Amino acid sequence: MVSDPRWCPTDGLVRQLAVEFGTPLYAIDEASFRSKIRDYRASFLKFDAGAVLTFASKANSVVGVLRIAHSEGCLIDCASEGELRAALMAGVPAKDCHLHGNNKSRSELDFAIDQEIGQIVADNREELELILDAASGAEVVLRLAPGVLPITNEKISTGQSDTKFGFSIDDGDAERAVKFCIDSGLNLVGFHCHVGSQLLDPEAQIAAGQILAEFARSMHDRYGFDVKILNVGGGRAVSYTDEQPVPLDEYNDRLVGGVRVALEGSGLRPVLVQEPGRSLIAEAGVTIYQVGVVKDVARSGGGRRRFVVVDGGLADNPRPALYGARYGIIGVSGDGRELGELSPATVSGRHCEVDQLFEDVDLPNDLRAGDFVAVLTTGAYSSSMASNYNRYPRPMTVLVREDGRFSVLQRAENFEEMLSREVLPEDLK
Ligand SMILES: Cc1ncc(COP(=O)(O)O)c(C=O)c1O
Repeated sequence: MVSDPRWCPTDGLVRQLAVEFGTPLYAIDEASFRSKIRDYRASFLKFDAGAVLTFASKANSVVGVLRIAHSEGCLIDCASEGELRAALMAGVPAKDCHLHGNNKSRSELDFAIDQEIGQIVADNREELELILDAASGAEVVLRLAPGVLPITNEKISTGQSDTKFGFSIDDGDAERAVKFCIDSGLNLVGFHCHVGSQLLDPEAQIAAGQILAEFARSMHDRYGFDVKILNVGGGRAVSYTDEQPVPLDEYNDRLVGGVRVALEGSGLRPVLVQEPGRSLIAEAGVTIYQVGVVKDVARSGGGRRRFVVVDGGLADNPRPALYGARYGIIGVSGDGRELGELSPATVSGRHCEVDQLFEDVDLPNDLRAGDFVAVLTTGAYSSSMASNYNRYPRPMTVLVREDGRFSVLQRAENFEEMLSREVLPEDLK
């Protein structure tokens, strides 16, 4: 039997965390996060000893999280100056980071260059001109659109030709960008692609790795370009409910194998990079909410609906609203009493909009105000996507240490901080 890859805290731990730190609360299990990175690295390096694993900080850019990722041997992928600043604050040297982004500003590029960033992953021609203008000698990697369509939610598909990301290989944009770099003396070192996220079927990503390698090979044949870095992005899927991603070794074996076959006999030996986010941290995180209201209402179309309303929602986890994301959910009594049988419920948040988190999930039939709901697999794209919608301060992140202690990694925002940017002009007072 395959063990559940998701961190699932005991009822006692959920209660303890909720009582000590309040709700809503993001909790990360240190042991689980570290072991996800170790497993991924061990597997990737088994198939390519020179490979490099990078953590995509957009998944979770809490500074303590970045520190752990780096301490486990990951480099850090930053998609903005803010993410780069978070990595620097975590003590990660800029040379261990690369900068993504499909519309980088001049000041963002200048900041990264001043810090001596590892690489800039250039997305478009305008950006190449800006880098050239900065005359820095920074290493440049070109983001390419390999023209593959992954099987995943369309909002997280990025590898197709009809995309805003990168230089298209199919229409010759990628080759023109290589030529531009060579002719203008930019320090081009490699190529990057990212085809999409939560890829349960990794076929498109494997194909993209091969296409990237074939492209590198043809740039070698045509222009003598010696590729140093091939970055095949992130995208590996995780288990939110009962999904079963392809086993890690099979995934890495096929990904690395495809690239190496495409480069065989070319004399090219680039470092192979992956930059997953979700698959390293999602399953190590849980969000704890407190139930405030339970309502039984007539359901349109017949029958009854039990609403379990919690003290969070859209602002701390927009994924259900964005993609209809589903999760494993457990109900925990607030007072330690034994809970009843499971029956369907609709978990709803406290925000305007419908803010329906999860429809028809099984929760104990006697869950009531004061009890807790723990949502599994929320380590990625929850805190990093949080907002202040309806003027709720953003929640705290707590790390459950390997020795059982708790460490606050990010304290909850307070109302003063949330309102600190407001300016009321004199004549409006
Ligand atoms: C360029 C890039 N790299 C890496 C990632 C991380 O993807 P994932 O969290 O699915 O591994 C993303 C996610 O959107 C991305 O856009």
